[in-house]
Amino acid sequence: MGKIELSFSLDNIDWDEACTIFERAPLGTRTPERLRKTFENSQLTCFAWDGDTMVGIARALSDFTVMSVVYDLCMLPEYQGQGLGKRIMQAMIKRLDTPNVHLHAVPDKVGFYEKLGFRKMLTAMVLSADPDKLKSGGYIL
Ligand SMILES: CC(C)(COP(=O)(O)OP(=O)(O)OC[C@H]1O[C@@H](n2cnc3c(N)ncnc32)[C@H](O)[C@@H]1OP(=O)(O)O)[C@@H](O)C(=O)NCCC(=O)NCCS
Repeated sequence: MGKIELSFSLDNIDWDEACTIFERAPLGTRTPERLRKTFENSQLTCFAWDGDTMVGIARALSDFTVMSVVYDLCMLPEYQGQGLGKRIMQAMIKRLDTPNVHLHAVPDKVGFYEKLGFRKMLTAMVLSADPDKLKSGGYIL
């Protein structure tokens, strides 16, 4: 693994490559077109690169004043556990520069976010088209 660079622009992103990261991380499945739309409609995007190879992605919605929400942080398995997730999160939090940054963690990643200072919320709620899926994933009661 070489020196990992972070970029924040959507220019020249190969969405098939981004999709592969999403699936291999694993974070789920999303078509390249749907992944592109979610990133294009986000106020902040972040991509991690090992040379010309994209190895990590993340995005956030933000009003850049009060509130931000981070989504879809993931990286290739061979780049996990080496501080890259922490680096991406810290870079995004700095750029977002809002007093509140929200997210919902994959259940077994709560500890990763707690190390970054995130706290569990008592009243976070969701109106979902598929609550059963959220329930089986361990996201809601
Ligand atoms: C979750 C993920 C983004 C974390 O990134 P990472 O680069 O592997 O994590 P880092 O190496 O930056 O870890 C930073 C710190 O968090 C800790 N940590 C990492 N994963 C953890 C976990 N699941 N539970 C508790 N602590 C964890 C590390 O030990 C490290 O601690 P340290 O600072 O004391 O050394 C990455 O593993 C990943 O892409 N996972 C698959 C996709 C996913 O689940 N994304 C999260 C969606 S909410």
